[in-house]
Amino acid sequence: MSDKTEMKRVFSGIQPSGQLTIANYLGALKHFVQLQKAGTECIYCVVDLHAITVWQDPNELRNAIRHAAACFIASGINVEKSILFNQSLVSAHAELAWIFNCVARMGWMNRMTQFKEKAGSNRENSSVGLFAYPTLMAADILVYHATHVPVGEDQKQHLELTRDIANKFNNDYGTEFFPVIEPVIEGIATRIMSLRDGTKKMSKSDKSDLSRINLTDDKDLIVKKIRKARTDQYPLPGSIKELEKRPEAKNLMNIFAALSETSLNNVLNQFEGKMFSEFKPHLSEVTVEKISPITTEVNKLMNDGKELDQILDAGAERARKIAEPIVQKTYEIVGLKETR
Ligand code: TYM
Repeated sequence: MSDKTEMKRVFSGIQPSGQLTIANYLGALKHFVQLQKAGTECIYCVVDLHAITVWQDPNELRNAIRHAAACFIASGINVEKSILFNQSLVSAHAELAWIFNCVARMGWMNRMTQFKEKAGSNRENSSVGLFAYPTLMAADILVYHATHVPVGEDQKQHLELTRDIANKFNNDYGTEFFPVIEPVIEGIATRIMSLRDGTKKMSKSDKSDLSRINLTDDKDLIVKKIRKARTDQYPLPGSIKELEKRPEAKNLMNIFAALSETSLNNVLNQFEGKMFSEFKPHLSEVTVEKISPITTEVNKLMNDGKELDQILDAGAERARKIAEPIVQKTYEIVGLKETR
């Protein structure tokens, strides 16, 4: 095995489109912090080039980028230890994405379920960027030779495509240049569902604000959203098997378990036979307890936009040092540039 494959390097990203939610926190940010704490080299990115695959108001985008960065920091990302920056500051992402556009096959891209969901019936009118989005995502990861990618369940297919692209590139050019990545999809919060519909993913782009808890929501709003969260009329079950048939109960109990860092079994034991009216205030309490300190910190950081910009600039400089030589080497392998 080469040194490259033995080294562990984490990369992940979050789009600055809409407010970050408790699902982004539980499905992604929380794990980013854990990996950082474990001492792994981590590179985290506000993926602004991905955000513009659908319309973003230019007057709001810059602030949304800062806001997403503030959410990373407020959740516990230490910008001395980990690299934090926004994607458009490092042109190597877009450069490698073009090479990957020439490696990935139309057939592979046509199978991407997220494109189908996002484009919906409006496929003909979607941006080419939205269709090509997964090759940019592969480039985000592979431009750092990252090996481990913590994400929620919804990104699994994109990571499989990243592996396919790395394998095809390596095969086509007779090299082992790109590592075959490991998705890190762990814990019970890999797929948090909408508060309005237990069969639909919680999303920052959902039309209904009541469907999610944002990292900017204050105590009153959190309590209101949980009070209004959809439920069925039965008492809470006591086993995972029964819970599987109850999407809303499963979602709320999962959120409770993830926030209070306990197992789903413990939550089932604690609330078996109780009504939602009794459970919900407990859920509100633990949500406020976990989310409010993050919100307060985000607001504090947002008061100084300049400082956030400096943090992102400094992170980008560190990121470029890793990414640029990898793009140059890729150009050599492809034959665009003389081998040194
Ligand atoms: P994005 O911005 O939609 O979401 C950011 C992260 O949050 C996770 N997530 C969820 N986890 C659990 N339950 C949910 N309901 C939920 N909704 C979102 C996502 O899985 C993700 O980890 N394409 C990516 C961004 C990206 C990226 C990358 C990620 C671009 N390049 C390279 C990893 C590596 C996205 O749109 O995430």
